[in-house]
Amino acid sequence: MPEPILLDVEDLHVDYPGPAGVPVPAVRGVTFQLRRGEVLGLVGESGSGKSTVCAALTRTLPPGARSRATGLTFDGTELGGLAEEAMRRLRASRIGLVPQRPMTSLSPATPVLAQLRWYGGGQDLTPLLEQVGLRAVLDRPRDYPHRFSGGQLQRLLIVLAALARRPDLLIADEPTTTLDATVQAQVLRLLLDLRDRLGLGILYITHDLAVVAQVCDRVAVMYSGRLVETGTVGQIFAAPRHPYTQALLAALPGRTKPGDRLGAIQGSAVGAARHPGCAFAPRCPVVLARCQDEAPRQIVTPGATVSCHRAEESA
Ligand SMILES: Nc1ncnc2c1ncn2[C@@H]1O[C@H](COP(=O)(O)OP(=O)(O)OP(=O)(O)O)[C@@H](O)[C@H]1O
Ligand SMILES: [Mg+2]
Repeated sequence: MPEPILLDVEDLHVDYPGPAGVPVPAVRGVTFQLRRGEVLGLVGESGSGKSTVCAALTRTLPPGARSRATGLTFDGTELGGLAEEAMRRLRASRIGLVPQRPMTSLSPATPVLAQLRWYGGGQDLTPLLEQVGLRAVLDRPRDYPHRFSGGQLQRLLIVLAALARRPDLLIADEPTTTLDATVQAQVLRLLLDLRDRLGLGILYITHDLAVVAQVCDRVAVMYSGRLVETGTVGQIFAAPRHPYTQALLAALPGRTKPGDRLGAIQGSAVGAARHPGCAFAPRCPVVLARCQDEAPRQIVTPGATVSCHRAEESA
């Protein structure tokens, strides 16, 4: 029996306010599901819309941004129709967000321990902090955030988001990008441990496929605001179907022979929906004539999706 669906996102679109009142599209037609106990990796290069998806899910988009979706359901509750106060309660309890920049998520003017106590609502934080190797926070009650390392603060934010509140869903936006390899491994272990103990569903956002291979069960690949491919980690790594996913994997250092150049993807991404056809067409090594002006439809197979004219031809 598969675990129940925790998060169900159907046809999500987000626009930011642009110059002269013209909206700038950032996310287009994103559809995915996340089950309890599952880690779903959302990958894609900088600017592909990953953080925007997070903000839309948690309804924390900046003023002026607009989102719409056919369905946005968390554990059976439709989020779109929820009043702001109910949404705030959900964020404060059942949905934990580990933001992209730890430094800007804590107040610089209050000691870390005081902030932690405030968030913890009176519970004894000692066992939690010891468990994640953050005893230092207890020993240095007067120290402000800038006195702690990036890795310490990042683990602290995960503790805040995940343990102090016992959420069902944890959204982690690039939680290890700025960390060295040892601390990154610690943070990843902490996340997996939380998933196992609390049965959390985790949406893990990153541009690092090596990290995805270590922690995720399934992957959703974003390009220019759209999901181009989804599948299990096994499927995606063994047999990627979208040329963008193939290029991302080819660029992994482990897949390059010594002496070869790293396989960088030529060109740069166009903004979401600025291209009438497939957004990857201008960079695609196997582009077809119709990719230029005809948007590919999403091909759904059991447990996987791909949006590509080539994949459609070979399906
Ligand atoms: N507040 C904003 N106002 C206008 N445009 C924005 C805003 N925030 C993001 N964007 C644009 O929306 C697009 C998606 O940005 P987003 O931050 O979601 O990407 P990302 O995949 O999280 O990138 P990164 O890997 O760099 O964090 C980008 O083109 C970005 O410039
Ligand atoms: Mg981001």
